[in-house]
Amino acid sequence: MPKPVPAPHRVPAPPAPPAPPVPRLLGALAWASLVANIGIVLTGGVVRLTGSGLGCPTWPRCTEESFVPQGELGIHGAIEFGNRLLTFVLVAVAVATFLVALRHGRPAITRIAVVLGLGVPAQAVIGGITVLTDLNPWTVAFHLLVSMAMIGVAVLLLRRLHDADGPRQRVVPSGYVALVGAIFATTWGVLYLGTVVTGSGPHAGDANAPRNGLDPQTWSQLHADLVFLLVGLTLAAVLLLRAVDAPARVRRPAWALLGVEIAQGAVGFVQYYTGLPEVLVALHLVGAALTSATATWLLVAVHAPAPKAVAQKPSSGSSATVTNSRDR
Ligand code: HEM
Repeated sequence: MPKPVPAPHRVPAPPAPPAPPVPRLLGALAWASLVANIGIVLTGGVVRLTGSGLGCPTWPRCTEESFVPQGELGIHGAIEFGNRLLTFVLVAVAVATFLVALRHGRPAITRIAVVLGLGVPAQAVIGGITVLTDLNPWTVAFHLLVSMAMIGVAVLLLRRLHDADGPRQRVVPSGYVALVGAIFATTWGVLYLGTVVTGSGPHAGDANAPRNGLDPQTWSQLHADLVFLLVGLTLAAVLLLRAVDAPARVRRPAWALLGVEIAQGAVGFVQYYTGLPEVLVALHLVGAALTSATATWLLVAVHAPAPKAVAQKPSSGSSATVTNSRDR
């Protein structure tokens, strides 16, 4: 009779660094960063969808003579200038986050706040180039994609705020990390193709703005095809993460991303078949911002602070299996 194989000796997980207490103000500022970056995507969309893209015809001044719009520029000038003013809100939030993180001795958070802070003047310049190129569709697209990246950085800030600083390790098998990487890359492919569709479509931001000359139907088809791939990959991730009972910190964003993709896909189809009404296009922009946010949330969740190394006494005759604390 074969001898029973001894069950592997499971040792308690080495203690993970405790999640740092998050000062209330720092937490609020991190959320403010995310909300403000999503908000400016919407207000930028309103500029385009109301045909106010050249409401202020030059940059950095609104007109050759003045930094603020004058009476004859009317509502378009007010809308475009309002969007420019929001830049200062983003700067204020980023600087405040930097200073508060510095005061609480969180170097990782301070660094991310610097990236967010530098992104704002960069976006102001790209926005200026957009105006100076008479709303060239490729520049408009780049301007939106940089905002999508900043939304991702704001999500990184929020995630890291709740994790201890220091070395990190993956909390799911490497194949899952690769799948999440593929989801993130596909998300960016979808975002990019969306901007190509917009550049070929009717909402240029000004009646005289150039279009990219591509066929809107063909590029909408490609955009939607990649969305199907994205939904398929995300559904696979949700099911596989459940099968291995992955940590909640990874399962939650996977579910959230799937939900956002389905809602956003529905808005995309409805706007396509109803002639791109402005309200739905604006909603689709917010959906795109939320897609970027949730895809980044998933990406940054698969690595967590590494447990502190503890010296273990090998127990004779048994192989030691170290289990990790799962839900952080
Ligand atoms: C996860 C799902 C989706 C994401 C993340 C997404 C993202 C985007 C983005 C970033 C834009 C560019 C917005 C802009 O430049 O202002 C866009 C535009 C567009 N999307 Fe999607 N999209 C998704 C699904 C779909 C689907 C399924 C359709 C169906 C055909 C669709 C149709 C369109 C159309 C027609 C535009 C151009 C709107 C315009 O001319 O202003 N989208 N999308």
